Amino acid sequence: MSNVWDSRADAYRTSETHASGDDLDALVELCDPRDGVKILDVATGGGHVARRLREEGAEVVTCDASPGMGADVVCRAEDLPFADGSFDVVVSRIAPHHFSNIGEAVGELARVSNRVVVVEDTLYTSEKVEAAESLRDPTHVRSYSEEEWRDLLESAGLEVERVELFRKTHELEPWLARTGCTGADAERATELLAELLDAGGKSWTDTKILLEARKSQR
Ligand SMILES: C[S@@+](CC[C@H](N)C(=O)[O-])C[C@H]1O[C@@H](n2cnc3c(N)ncnc32)[C@H](O)[C@@H]1O
Repeated sequence: MSNVWDSRADAYRTSETHASGDDLDALVELCDPRDGVKILDVATGGGHVARRLREEGAEVVTCDASPGMGADVVCRAEDLPFADGSFDVVVSRIAPHHFSNIGEAVGELARVSNRVVVVEDTLYTSEKVEAAESLRDPTHVRSYSEEEWRDLLESAGLEVERVELFRKTHELEPWLARTGCTGADAERATELLAELLDAGGKSWTDTKILLEARKSQR
């Protein structure tokens, strides 16, 4: 997995869809970044979340499973090398659908936070869209519904306080190119996305789910 991601590092650092958007602005606000707030960005990828949080004065540690992403710490979300409650806020954006064990990973996000966990990911749409995502990127494991996300966070001892949805449009060509998906696979992935393609077939729109969950006081 790491080698695949290492070779994609530049594509994710320069990806417009990752670097900006209403979803990113809202996520940054939920993290409440300011002087004295310590935040862990899990699966930081191109580092867009961390950059924005640091601009607001927060103290940010980044981690990622792939050495090529240049994170502060190389580790898996399922096995975070941090003490219980060592961060005020733990955030992970557009990455959990790659985690091989989502239950363990969410448990770890909750364990190392002393206050809040913020998660953003692609919302489950249909099995066809799942098939398109896996064809385009074999590291795609699964997108989850709102109900599944609520269960995952509550099972980790968190209380869900806020849920927001954002529509995000992706130009097909750069979206396929970022993971090196070409030829028959690219054609098939595009066919599978038919229900979400725009009229000209040049872009498609998915929904991102953003959740804020708090450590239970019980
Ligand atoms: C789409 S990128 C993340 C995007 C980034 N968070 C942002 O907002 O721009 C997905 C990242 O997840 C990382 N990753 C995949 N599986 C992981 C795991 N089990 N634990 C930690 N990082 C993982 C990859 O190395 C990659 O950098």
